[in-house]
Amino acid sequence: MMKLLAINGSPRKTRNTAAILQSMVEGAIEAGAEATLVPLAGLRFRGCVSCFSCKLLNGPSYGRCALRDDLAPILDMAHEADVIVLGSPFYFSEESSLLRACEERLWFQYSRYDTENVTLSPAKKACALVYTMNIPEEAMPQYLLKGAVSSFNRAVMERIFSCPCELFFCCDTLQFEDYAKYDNRIFDPAHKLERHRNVFPKDRERARELGRKLVS
Ligand SMILES: Cc1cc2nc3c(=O)[nH]c(=O)nc-3n(C[C@H](O)[C@H](O)[C@H](O)COP(=O)(O)O)c2cc1C
Repeated sequence: MMKLLAINGSPRKTRNTAAILQSMVEGAIEAGAEATLVPLAGLRFRGCVSCFSCKLLNGPSYGRCALRDDLAPILDMAHEADVIVLGSPFYFSEESSLLRACEERLWFQYSRYDTENVTLSPAKKACALVYTMNIPEEAMPQYLLKGAVSSFNRAVMERIFSCPCELFFCCDTLQFEDYAKYDNRIFDPAHKLERHRNVFPKDRERARELGRKLVS
């Protein structure tokens, strides 16, 4: 049975990024796969510490991250998965530091200093990067460095997992439950609510379809 692992890099375990990833997981399950959503929030872990245990020739951890903290079991799950989905809110036009710390360790263990055999990942894995954000679609070229961040990360995923990496964007998200309680002079609460009611469910449906596609 195909196994899909979705990792949520939002510090919020139940909001936009979680909902989109949950829909992908449901789509994968509908298509007959085993699928798990794991939040990074609440775990005690750090980014790569550059110990190079994963590059030590004949070392006990060659090709695998040697750090033993809360991320270690998640990296083990990723090692076993057939499909890997990484999700994050955009923070200052980048991924969250939570997801980045995870990526440093997921990616570096498999990155080989070689021009031909560039990956130590034991298998090809279908993959996707999921990003949620406040800005609407039309503002993406202006604020997201013309897509440079997502394009770069996609290229890394494709190099490491030897499969095309899908990019999924969910824009104009509802950030607070009650906009009246927070200092906000930019976002129109009525628009945000309307978008959450009418467009977000369609985003979730797109995510469900992508989940189905990734495992088939
Ligand atoms: C620290 C911080 C920085 C943010 N920076 C951006 C940004 O640069 N561009 C953007 O579109 N949204 C930005 N946002 C909004 C979030 O990306 C957006 O609300 C996202 O959907 C939240 O995901 P979540 O509900 O899963 O936490 C920022 C939010 C926070 C808390």
